[in-house]
Amino acid sequence: MQNTEVVTTVQHWTDRLFSFTVTRDPSFRFVAGQFTMIGLDVEGRKLMRAYSMASATYDEHLEFFSIKVPSGPLTSRLQHIKPGDRILVGRKPTGTLVADNLKPGRRLFLLGTGTGLAPFMSIIREPDVYDRFEQIVLVHGCRHVSELAYEDFITKTLPADEFIGEQVRNQLVYYPTVTREAFRHTGRITTLLTEGFDPASALPPLSLEQDRVMLCGSPAFLADVVALLEQRGFAEGNSSHPGDYVIEKAFVEK
Ligand code: A2P
Repeated sequence: MQNTEVVTTVQHWTDRLFSFTVTRDPSFRFVAGQFTMIGLDVEGRKLMRAYSMASATYDEHLEFFSIKVPSGPLTSRLQHIKPGDRILVGRKPTGTLVADNLKPGRRLFLLGTGTGLAPFMSIIREPDVYDRFEQIVLVHGCRHVSELAYEDFITKTLPADEFIGEQVRNQLVYYPTVTREAFRHTGRITTLLTEGFDPASALPPLSLEQDRVMLCGSPAFLADVVALLEQRGFAEGNSSHPGDYVIEKAFVEK
């Protein structure tokens, strides 16, 4: 079952990436990190795909972060949406990237590539996550600097936010990294995990005792990071057995 919502804003980051907000039915509740099915009614057929909520659980609207695939059944259409257009939003949010699926720890690493940032945009606005962990380290890996969506929001808007700003200023470390051009941080996330973060960031290497990890990105990225984590003894968590890490595929086949 779906609610019909109305598009309120659309922001195009690049020719491959955009975000949009829609109205939110008051009965729609989710946990930071979850996804739901969203889509369009195309000639009487419902075209639905999984999207993580990028908005805070307490926001009045819902926000989604999407790629644009020219041949994608949904995103070839969705990329043209405008304020006032209608969007279908599934009523049953779900997903594994939730804090309850992790054992307690000191630091929480949020590792995402591309639109895999989306669920973390909700998590870094969740007060409960800051109560559970002393430090939240958000690592966003992209090919190009222009793809570092939300950078200004994370570095300027969020620290000044009336509600969550203080926790963000004290506990959030944002580490954007780019692989195909020069930038202040470069290298794949897998390389950062094996060879270390930029020394200027003062981020110690991953520790099984202290750190918990959430991953969201392409299947290849997930497979490579999971292999690294498992080598270090990290165990995957789920709703019946909290673990050291949890994963979600960034939903790219759109
Ligand atoms: P790279 O430029 O070296 O391929 P994509 O757009 O292909 O999903 O990639 C997003 C980011 O994730 C890029 O920085 C890319 O690096 C990186 N990436 C892609 N595959 C992997 C992987 N298997 N392990 C770690 N990082 C990856």
